[in-house]
Amino acid sequence: MTAETMTTETGKAARKRLFIKTYGCQMNVYDSERMRDVLAPLGYEPADAPDGADLVILNTCHIREKAAEKVYSELGRLKPLKEARAAEGGTMTVTVAGCVAQAEGAEIQRRAPVVDLVVGPQTYHKLPELIASVHRERGEALDTEFEVEEKFDRLAAPARQVEGHTAFVTVQEGCDKFCSFCVVPYTRGPEWSRPVDQVTAEIRQLAAKGVREVTLLGQNVNAYHGAAPGAEAGSWSLGRLVRHLGLIGGIDRIRFTTSHPNDMDDELIAAFAEEPKLMPYLHLPVQAGSDRILRAMNRKHTAASYLAVIERLRAARPDIAISGDFIVGFPGETEADFQETLALVDAVGHASAFSFKYSRRPGTPGAALPGQVDEDVKSDRLARLQALLNSQQEAFNASMTGRTLPVLFERRGRKPGQLGGRSPYLQAVHCDGPESLIGQIAEVEILSASRNALAGRLTGGERSAA
Ligand code: 5AD
Ligand code: SF4
Repeated sequence: MTAETMTTETGKAARKRLFIKTYGCQMNVYDSERMRDVLAPLGYEPADAPDGADLVILNTCHIREKAAEKVYSELGRLKPLKEARAAEGGTMTVTVAGCVAQAEGAEIQRRAPVVDLVVGPQTYHKLPELIASVHRERGEALDTEFEVEEKFDRLAAPARQVEGHTAFVTVQEGCDKFCSFCVVPYTRGPEWSRPVDQVTAEIRQLAAKGVREVTLLGQNVNAYHGAAPGAEAGSWSLGRLVRHLGLIGGIDRIRFTTSHPNDMDDELIAAFAEEPKLMPYLHLPVQAGSDRILRAMNRKHTAASYLAVIERLRAARPDIAISGDFIVGFPGETEADFQETLALVDAVGHASAFSFKYSRRPGTPGAALPGQVDEDVKSDRLARLQALLNSQQEAFNASMTGRTLPVLFERRGRKPGQLGGRSPYLQAVHCDGPESLIGQIAEVEILSASRNALAGRLTGGERSAA
């Protein structure tokens, strides 16, 4: 047994340094936090940099090609650090987790021998066991053996370390939609929902630790159908779950992401009207505005059916802020198709949005389609789309000036005496105020707005969630 893997006399695992680098979506941010929690009992403490770390985990994203390439560059940078650690007489275990791990498997170790362990998103609960086996192969021992259990049973068990007053909670994973551009159904597997009781218990625990706002996460979160507690057998929709979570004292704000237009059912739309804790902001990707392209993308909705969903949402909650994802340059996309995307954007009016050039992902049906679009055409369309989306975001923010908004303060601002928080519409808001307001909701009169943030002053008014 080496010094670093020995248990201390108090029976606690010896201190080791863990560095996790997270790529991609909020689901990965959540998974990284859970990996930290599950490794803490083994003595792993978070480090800010990979230098000198005992365990480095790259929690990867495979959604676009560049995301995967970044991982290989990072692995190249880790090689000398791992050698330096060995020269000091220590070891650095390099682990690749996340969707690149799932998609590429053992290929990663062939391409980057610096990697000791590859672990997909469904198996993080086994990390302690897997790390133990790496140590065993090296002739070192680790002090713990874990039984194989379901991911969330294991990950839900250790107390969550909480920083701040907002938190993400995974309620659903995977996707059965198979959009023809997307790797998620392959990397994250089929749709699966966490049982209601488990979600409720985690959020109660977070509330007790001072969390005021939760964002429910899932690749296809509004397809949620979690097993209901005890007597109320059957499965609950996301709308029902949201109303149930609204009963938890201490939690003032609820959000969820990411949704598919076809799963916006009446119960969920009604929750925007009836559940005051559900914030008036929705990320609802449409991807494109041309029905021909939407069909080729296997989205199973049209531009008109998307607009009809937006209309129902606005009838329920007239001030709801809409965000989305867009892909330009999907195979076969013509200038006329692209114009239909711009027209759809015009019709919706976005509070914010993400837009991407189509990235050909091996193994997805889109990769094999004829009519792949030239990079410079994609770049040109992306620039035009982003100019329009940016102007909408600017206009949306500008419409807030003169209004008074409830702001959940999350942190100190950049300047002394300044606080930073979020409006109900997820806008960043800055104003001067006492640090005692961090973790509280207070009324702020908005005095100015830019594309990325609002600035205002405290009115001393009463708090309310939205
Ligand atoms: N190319 C470009 N963008 C993609 N997305 C998913 N797959 C691809 C791809 N192959 C985008 C979609 C999705 C978001 C998370 O990433 O817009 O909603
Ligand atoms: Fe990917 Fe979302 Fe389509 Fe599922 S619904 S395949 S996660 S883009």
